[in-house]
Amino acid sequence: MFRLQMRALRSRRRRWRVAEALATRRGQRRTLWRERLAERQHIAEERIALVAEGTLTRVVGLALEAVGCEAAMGGRCVVVGGNERELETEVVGFSGDRLFLMPVGDVQGITPNSRVIPRPGHSEIAVGDALLGRVIDASGRPLDGRGALRCNARIALSGAPINPMDRHPISEPIDVGVRAINAIMTVGRGQRMGLLAGSGVGKSTLLGMMTRYTDADVIVVGLIGERGREVKEFVEQTLGDAGRKRAVVVAAPADSPPLSRLRGAWVATAIAEYFRDRGQKVLLLMDSLTRFAQAQREIALAIGEPPATKGYPPSVFARLPALIERAGNDASGRGSITAIYTVLTEGDDYRHDPIADAARAILDGQVVLSRDLAEAAHFPAIDLEGSVSRAMDSIVAKPHLQSAQRLRQLYSAYRQQRDLIAVGAYQKGSDPRVDEAIARWPQISAFLQQSVDQRAGLAASVNELDQVLADNPGERK
Ligand SMILES: Nc1ncnc2c1ncn2[C@@H]1O[C@H](COP(=O)(O)OP(=O)(O)OP(=O)(O)O)[C@@H](O)[C@H]1O
Ligand SMILES: [Mg+2]
Repeated sequence: MFRLQMRALRSRRRRWRVAEALATRRGQRRTLWRERLAERQHIAEERIALVAEGTLTRVVGLALEAVGCEAAMGGRCVVVGGNERELETEVVGFSGDRLFLMPVGDVQGITPNSRVIPRPGHSEIAVGDALLGRVIDASGRPLDGRGALRCNARIALSGAPINPMDRHPISEPIDVGVRAINAIMTVGRGQRMGLLAGSGVGKSTLLGMMTRYTDADVIVVGLIGERGREVKEFVEQTLGDAGRKRAVVVAAPADSPPLSRLRGAWVATAIAEYFRDRGQKVLLLMDSLTRFAQAQREIALAIGEPPATKGYPPSVFARLPALIERAGNDASGRGSITAIYTVLTEGDDYRHDPIADAARAILDGQVVLSRDLAEAAHFPAIDLEGSVSRAMDSIVAKPHLQSAQRLRQLYSAYRQQRDLIAVGAYQKGSDPRVDEAIARWPQISAFLQQSVDQRAGLAASVNELDQVLADNPGERK
């Protein structure tokens, strides 16, 4: 390589000498010198800057502190510990000449005064069609034992922002394969939805159903901060071989360092963007946004940011829109990222959960799961009263919208009187809407339930909704 460069330099010098000898006029010489100067300047700019290595001075909890080196926020640094073991870190803050670093891996074996070497560029990930069908970690390394990944491109984890004025509006529905969602809270292509529920109410199962039954071209699943056991279950049982072909799974389970969990979400988003930019219809499922926020909280508290809302520092609420705003339609309207983020709500109360509250303000709708329904073995346990798709009005036909609203009214009327109905204290004739809801309840309830192995397409879901409402309940057998 070096020899080739030298040969090129020598031949360039020869060319210059010949040109100088031939250039007789003063003006010609001046032009020649200008060209030569410009070329030299270009070579000088290409020179690699000297890298100042630093020293690791402190490790407290999760945060590492280094002095003597300079790196930008979000930049990469490698800490070389005992036995020349390299630990990758990212710059997450600084104070005076001290840099705060967060490790991507395990800090075991890192010694005091270890060398800290800044690396050029920001975090990147290798991408390509080879990712389809694979399970990777937050650094892009395969976890599935199916051999090395042969990707042909690299993209920055931070992504390229799309001008909000250029974004194509949400104009058509996407089929998620779940009847209650397709019919009552239709999701638009490029929409961002939240899936809000307490623990163990069926969030992951519902995401799994969508992964298998959606009509999206590519599905990117980010399993962030969830149980490690669930990753294998999700890939082998939920996705299966058929679902796996068009899916990419990024797993950063609960035992990985907070930076890996954070990165897992960025990696999944960057991969979704890659496929979207190639004109594909992408469904991005993130389980869960709460664990992403908690990872950011761990990092922020470790470097001394004060907590603000319920123990969450302000940077958490700045990171949420930064992540969610990357989903959506591209400028051309060909590629799209429809995203669903699960939010684990504290004590089943999504109205007073800080992350759910922040997410709802940024998202274009939410699906709320209710523990009452799950306990009554009503699955998926979607609570229609709290769930809404803010894009539905502009993407479905008017009759569909009216049917959905009518079903909501009946559902709400029944749920509000359900205690009285259950003990037989409701007086028939007190409210015609409740009477109708009681008469239609078996059909409504059956319509809203769906077993895990059953697919409900968009058109079929709307048809069934009409049937539930059109039949005369008194005459139904
Ligand atoms: N559609 C369904 N049909 C039957 N059972 C279901 C369904 N959805 C969920 N369940 C039951 O609920 C349990 C919990 O579901 P799941 O793991 O999806 O909940 P989760 O909200 O993701 O839980 P966590 O908060 O712990 O991650 C499952 O083990 C299963 O028994
Ligand atoms: Mg789960």
